[in-house]
Amino acid sequence: MQPYQPKPPHEHRPYVVAHRGISGKVPENTLAAFERACETPGIDMIELDVRLSKDDQVIVLHDRTLQRTTTGNGAARHYSIAEIKEFDAGSWFDPSFSNERIPTLEEVLALVNKRRWVNIELKSDFFFPEKHELLEDRALDTVKNLGYRDHVLFSSFNHQMVGTIKRLDQGARTGVLYNIYRDYGRMPSKLAGRVGAEVLVCAKHELTQRMLRDAQQSGVAVYVYTLNSTAVVDKMIEMGVDGILSDIADDIVRFVKNPTAS
Ligand code: G3P
Ligand code: MG
Repeated sequence: MQPYQPKPPHEHRPYVVAHRGISGKVPENTLAAFERACETPGIDMIELDVRLSKDDQVIVLHDRTLQRTTTGNGAARHYSIAEIKEFDAGSWFDPSFSNERIPTLEEVLALVNKRRWVNIELKSDFFFPEKHELLEDRALDTVKNLGYRDHVLFSSFNHQMVGTIKRLDQGARTGVLYNIYRDYGRMPSKLAGRVGAEVLVCAKHELTQRMLRDAQQSGVAVYVYTLNSTAVVDKMIEMGVDGILSDIADDIVRFVKNPTAS
């Protein structure tokens, strides 16, 4: 597939990004959820969340703790990858997914195998900060070792981590996640510009016309999450966003890419 470009070509509709895989129908951040996204025609990208295990392996998990989406309990950082692999990451969603495990980033990239671009969201917890630059370094290494560098967007709510990725690899594509409590009133050009990011990602209710205008004028791409209804998707397309993150990207993609057929 083509190298990832933060902004879709002019004639192209917005990118469709499968948020945590097809997480509305398959347990989030599992190989099954990512495989479903790869099998659905038209989906451009897969979003996933990464953090570290006790033995510094890059794992794909949204929460800091295990209990919402697995049979484990407590912080994932307190378990080695071997221990983490014991937990069932699918039954909470549906018993038919009991074989799903928390995947490593390496396993996901190997599975996706460049059928889709991947948006790697680096998780960081304010009260539990990671060792200096460790997650950034480990994630970037994995991406490079698997030859995925030109097919990945790194993003984070922690803009310092985004800046670190850029410093470690100038050619990496990056996005800043907008936090309304921290970033309110600051424009995309400033938020992205100060760490050299190409993309701003925000929640649908956070986006304003002023932000969009500023992004368009400064060449920053704008992606919006999490859009699970065609009415909202329609509105966001009209506003002119560049990317749409959805839990049901398999349904949304038909509408985005071919609205008259839906
Ligand atoms: O990357 C967009 C979105 O995933 C950010 O929020 O909590 O779903 O990781 P969250
Ligand atoms: Mg995320």
